[in-house]
Order: sequence, then structure tokens, then C-alpha cells
Amino acid sequence: MQAILHHIPVMVEEVLLYLKVKPDCVYVDGTIGQGGHSRKILSKLSSEGKLVGIDRDEEVLEHCHQEFFTSYSQLSLYHNSYHNLFKVLQSEGLNTVDGIVLDLGLSSVQLGSENRGFSFSKNSMLDMRFDRSNGKPAAQLLQKLSLKELENILKNFGEERYYKKIAYKIKQTPDLITTTDLKKIVQASTPPANRNKSFARVFQAIRIAVNKELEILDKFLNNFIECLSPNGKIVVISYHSLEDRIVKQSFKKLKQDRLLNILTKKPLQPNQDELKKNSRSRSAKLRAAERI
Ligand SMILES: C[S@@+](CC[C@H](N)C(=O)[O-])C[C@H]1O[C@@H](n2cnc3c(N)ncnc32)[C@H](O)[C@@H]1O
Repeated sequence: MQAILHHIPVMVEEVLLYLKVKPDCVYVDGTIGQGGHSRKILSKLSSEGKLVGIDRDEEVLEHCHQEFFTSYSQLSLYHNSYHNLFKVLQSEGLNTVDGIVLDLGLSSVQLGSENRGFSFSKNSMLDMRFDRSNGKPAAQLLQKLSLKELENILKNFGEERYYKKIAYKIKQTPDLITTTDLKKIVQASTPPANRNKSFARVFQAIRIAVNKELEILDKFLNNFIECLSPNGKIVVISYHSLEDRIVKQSFKKLKQDRLLNILTKKPLQPNQDELKKNSRSRSAKLRAAERI
């Protein structure tokens, strides 16, 4: 099967509505991906405006470089993690910005890639790292984790009912190195009905662990407020209930500390039109807030 070369950005209109992009202001896209949200932000900036794009995936940045560099001098790209925002801004000579968007998770391009190990429908090495220059690939992490740690990952990050059986079989398979090896274990541990959902849950759980996704989100949320100008906006799209809960609680705490106004009482979800066009958007939840 061909790699998917296209990612449909999620809730773009809603992101723009809450960011309220002003032509000469400074914005950060902390998970620039294929640049779906960034393209819209860039189109609203004057030559005085600026967009800082960050991603952990070097391939993604190469794509953005080719796509945007000649047309948009306002864009600076950084291979980094969004939780290092403060350092990235320092390299740009900036202290604060007027808006930040995070669109968490992975892109359809990464999921469709033949050799990254994100998808259970491609046979490849079990890697799953967004940043292949850093950290342990999934296959190595699975060997290193204890049975208990692995059970917790599958249970909490994947909400997989058969987590105990799957974790046990993983620990009994020292030569587990490909997506097909992992798929076989899930196959042997789950009933056939809804097995694709078990594949998806297990792959998602392991990806979250490999990339320390929740830890990183938490670190970012503890610090981003320092980087946001008064009236600056933050918009976060999450795809997992744990992520959404972390965002919700952090915004609530910052509101209590009188640092943030919450702009979305309840998280926004894609409308019917968007769901029809892009079924991958179905789990998206958007929360937005404004620095006081
Ligand atoms: C859902 S995609 C973003 C898609 C993008 N908004 C678009 O419309 O094209 C998520 C992106 O976040 C990146 N990513 C994941 N964790 C990251 C982190 N801690 N820091 C920066 N980028 C990260 C992934 O590599 C991926 O490219």
C-alpha cells in the first residue's frame, strides 16, 4: 500500500477563531506537522508578523521547509519538543508570543508511513519515535519495561481490556521487533470481534509511552504561561481522554491563580461536516484559553 502523503488538519476554523490572529503578532505552532494550521495562520500575517513552527519529527520539518520557505519569510522552524518553548523563543530573541496552538498526537502521514512502526497495517520495525535521533524505539522499550509497567501502559494509555494477557505475552517474546510480531501477540490474546480496535489501542498506548507524550504535555502546561503575552491565546487539540483531562485541569488551575480565562467551557468537537470529510477527527477535543 502507498504511504499516505496528505494530512487533513482538524478544526482549523475553530483554531483560527480562538487564536484571533493579528497580522503583526507572533504565534507558535508547537506541533507543526504537515503545516495545515500553520498555512492558515501564515496567510493572515503581514511581513511584521512571525510564526515559530516546532516539531519533534525531522521528516515533517523537511516537508514544511520545502512547502513554506520560499513563500513565507515569517516562518522559523525548530526541531525540538514543544515543552522546550522557552528555549526555542530565546533562540528567536523572543520572550513572549501572542498565541500558541498544539495539535497533539500524530499526523496521517506518520501513520501511513511504511517504516516508522506507527501503524498496525504496515509491516515494519517497531520504532514509533517522533524523533528518531532520541530515545528508545518501541521494540527496545518493550524489552526494558517490567510486566507491571507494561500492564499499566496498555491499561491506562490504551484502555485495552485484555491488557494483562497482552503484556504477559509481550514479556514472553524476547525477539519482538516488528509491527507484525506485536500484531500476532494481540491476535493471540483477544477475541476476533473488534480486534482491530485492540490493535489500535495497543499501538496507541505504546506510542504514547515511547514518546512520553503525557509527561511532555504536563511539563509544557506547567510552564507555557510565562511565554504568553497578556491577552495571548492558547489552543490545544487532544485526541485521548487522558490528554484532555490534563489540559482541562491545568487550565482550571491557571484560572484559579488568575492567570488565564477559559474560552471554552466545554471542549469543542468537530461538527458533522468535518466528521464526514475526515473520520480521523472524531476523537478531537479543542480547549482554548486567554492569558489575563
Ligand atoms: C496531529 S500532527 C499535527 C498536524 C498539523 N497540525 C497539521 O495540520 O498538519 C501532530 C504533530 O506533532 C508532532 N509532535 C508530537 N509530539 C511533539 C512534541 N513533544 N513536540 C513537538 N512536536 C511533536 C508530531 O511529530 C506530529 O507531526
